Amino acid sequence: MPIRQFQAQRMHAPRDFQPIENKPVCVEIGAGKGKHALLFSGQNPQFNLIAVERTREKFLAMQKQHQIEGQQNLTTLHVDALPWVVHALYPHQVQQFFILYPNPEPHNSAQRWLNMPFFEFLVSRLQVNGSITLASNIPEYITEAEQQLKEVWNLPFEKQVIEQDSARTHFEIKYLERGELCQQLIITKPEYYKTRFDEFQPLQGQNLSVEKMVENVNAE
Ligand SMILES: C[S@@+](CC[C@H](N)C(=O)[O-])C[C@H]1O[C@@H](n2cnc3c(N)ncnc32)[C@H](O)[C@@H]1O
Repeated sequence: MPIRQFQAQRMHAPRDFQPIENKPVCVEIGAGKGKHALLFSGQNPQFNLIAVERTREKFLAMQKQHQIEGQQNLTTLHVDALPWVVHALYPHQVQQFFILYPNPEPHNSAQRWLNMPFFEFLVSRLQVNGSITLASNIPEYITEAEQQLKEVWNLPFEKQVIEQDSARTHFEIKYLERGELCQQLIITKPEYYKTRFDEFQPLQGQNLSVEKMVENVNAE
């Protein structure tokens, strides 16, 4: 069954929203305390990374460590990824997205990233040949994501087992220490791939008027 269309124009701007330039960028969603963001930006000076985290304490821990290490090519944001992506990112801007050990949402499968209509919007922000890295310690999460990629999104991917000595994130370290199987999908966007948001420009802090919302609801 085709997934319903994400209502991007209804997303309210994040508080204190700052627009970004339309330049190639990597984005980490749910960066936690920022271990991967700090490592990746330190090891890859050729990439600019924006790491977003919505939980305040974790964001503050990431920000603190960033102030100590000082990577110039890293920006950390305390924000919910959905409205921020819609308001900030341009079509075909993103080189790589990282979603590492997302919350499994055991009681709300509709909130898992590849089950959300928002995923189509996320793919629209990716460059051709850009990638989304999705890691999890839950085999069923990976299996469900693979199924969605085949049946709903028609996107190619590669499945990888994470090495025992990998230590990219706090959660990865914890899961590998417990002896759990950690896996990731590297999803890529082919040249021919189209989404319904390819022409959708970032909202840049503008909110939809009440009149427009009523009009949209009536039109549905
Ligand atoms: C299980 S933790 C993993 C954190 C980190 N990636 C790691 O592996 O250590 C998931 C993180 O995603 C964040 N998160 C979930 N949904 C988010 C959203 N919509 N926007 C920003 N962060 C989000 C949560 O606050 C949480 O810190």
